[in-house]
Amino acid sequence: MFKKIPGTKDILPKESSSWQTVEATARRIFSFYNYQEIRTPVIEEASLFNRTLGSTTEIVQKQMFLIQNQQDTYALRPEGTASIVRSYLENNLEKTNGFIKLYYIGPMFRLERPQRGRLRQFHHIGAEAIGSAQASLDIEVISLAEQLLKSFGITGYKIKLNSLGCPKDKQAFSAALKKSLREKLTQLCADCQLRAKNNVLRILDCKNEDCQKIVKTLGPEQTHICPDCLGHFEEVKRGLNDLGVSFQVDPQLVRGLDYYNQTVFEITHSDLGSQDAVGAGGRYNNLVGELGGPDLGAIGFAFGVERLLLLPNTLAVHPPKRLVYLITLGEAAKSAGIKILNQLRCAEISADMDYLNKTLKGAMRAANDAGATYVLILGDDELKKNTISVKDMSKSTQKEVALQNLTQELKC
Ligand code: HAM
Repeated sequence: MFKKIPGTKDILPKESSSWQTVEATARRIFSFYNYQEIRTPVIEEASLFNRTLGSTTEIVQKQMFLIQNQQDTYALRPEGTASIVRSYLENNLEKTNGFIKLYYIGPMFRLERPQRGRLRQFHHIGAEAIGSAQASLDIEVISLAEQLLKSFGITGYKIKLNSLGCPKDKQAFSAALKKSLREKLTQLCADCQLRAKNNVLRILDCKNEDCQKIVKTLGPEQTHICPDCLGHFEEVKRGLNDLGVSFQVDPQLVRGLDYYNQTVFEITHSDLGSQDAVGAGGRYNNLVGELGGPDLGAIGFAFGVERLLLLPNTLAVHPPKRLVYLITLGEAAKSAGIKILNQLRCAEISADMDYLNKTLKGAMRAANDAGATYVLILGDDELKKNTISVKDMSKSTQKEVALQNLTQELKC
């Protein structure tokens, strides 16, 4: 028998209603903030990600699902931001729309070592606002991320915030960090010894305890940030405070993708264990320019849906399900029943019936298992009288209803 690939998941019918609730809730909240949906292909040229995420990042070095054909190397998208900026430019949205607010929901792929909350195919619910460098947009995007969490019924999360400064500030900070780490290189983990050469900022958020101890002795402060970026960061913090969004400034938060600058944030939850980030994002002011477009500011974030669903209370917002289940007794009742079922469905009432020729007792059990709110019983007696028995499962009451009044009766 075939088995699914490690790190992938079947979303079975008993879970899919939670997915639908989360997705529908997200769409509703995005519409209040005037974000429009964008859907891009799951497959892109691999070089798009090398260029945007950075050739020395972990995703590009180790985690890309690559597909090689005769001339080209494609990749299953490891994230959505690069594809959306590619699409924004390819479809000339900067000319027709200029500033645009987009959201997306869909699968992403990373060749990681699978563990709880870390999959090879996972799903993002994300937003990207492209075309403005204003701090007011950072405030909107971060408060939107929090509003989504609240609407999913999630509490107990932490928002960590930092500013990386502009590319010049990042460069100056990297150089200073390299210098102060020179004496301590051999005490770092193997990954960080490589990072010291390629991507020194990532040492700051390494999870290895020894590396964290060393980083603490460096006491990274925001001294490397230029006055403009510092002013931007102050405005973001003030705006979030005004909206009552709680956050903690974490100078060690650097994020794993090269395209970030200025504001970065991560939302964590202690119930998630070692993979504790439920969502993350930040500004990427140089990405549009980097891909051949004009010099435009942009900011976004993405939540991992699987991680949202691992958290308690996510779906306190479950809509009550209403299902009518029809049981027919005998052949004549069965063909009449098929028509009744059709009428109910056309009247937008969820309805189902027994397809396994069960006995009355077995069919009642099936109705119960399906979570039916009403059971309809149609036998020869009822057929002769043009009526049907309607059993209210929550009240355990039963009455006979004229067939012509059935839809009306069930709609009330
Ligand atoms: P990211 O931090 O790589 O950011 O991913 C965002 C979220 O996706 C994470 O916080 C986590 O919840 C979830 N996630 C990531 N990898 C996995 C995995 N292997 N299994 C399960 N969940 C995972 C980005 O991807 C950026 N594109 C976010 C962004 C949008 N920044 C600006 N705009």
